[in-house]
Amino acid sequence: MEIRYSQLCFLPVFLFINGVSLQESVEGFIGGSAVLPCSSEESTLTVQDIELVLWRRNYDQNVYEIINGQVSVEGQDPVYRNRVESFPEEYLRGNFSIKLNNLQNTDAGEYWCYIFMKEQVFRIVELSIKERPERQLPSEGTKPRPEMTVLIISALFIGIISSLANCVTGVSQHPKPG
Ligand SMILES: *[C@@H]1O[C@H](CO)[C@@H](O)[C@H](O)[C@H]1NC(C)=O
Repeated sequence: MEIRYSQLCFLPVFLFINGVSLQESVEGFIGGSAVLPCSSEESTLTVQDIELVLWRRNYDQNVYEIINGQVSVEGQDPVYRNRVESFPEEYLRGNFSIKLNNLQNTDAGEYWCYIFMKEQVFRIVELSIKERPERQLPSEGTKPRPEMTVLIISALFIGIISSLANCVTGVSQHPKPG
């Protein structure tokens, strides 16, 4: 009995960690370009499979759309006009990443990618914009990103605490024998 309970309690933690892995961080420089990644696991697509791909910023700002395999800029927010490209040669591999050009400070934020097809995909890309460094600094190699580690650790914590809370409520709601 006890064991079954704890297995139940751990499920939310797993789901939470899975959720975090959907989010990626990308850095860009003012005036530069950035590729915002969004790929499906499914990599053997036909043109018919690609029903709709939506790129949105902060949920509802229309950045880019691919409808039935064709780019559509009809509803695109004017601030993104002529600044977004995708990679049609990658579509059939499930890769609907976009490249955002001529980056401005105001482009920083969360970009949401939805892919509607047999397997639906949702990804969030966090774009941050920095001043381009004046001169080349000596390369320091790639360091692990501390903020990402903190995010994952706090997600773990929240997950554990919320599942513990679930356990406690679950136990207290359980009618006591006697
Ligand atoms: C998707 O295409 C872009 C542009 O060619 C490339 O930079 C990126 O690595 C590709 N992603 C995957 C998962 O293949």
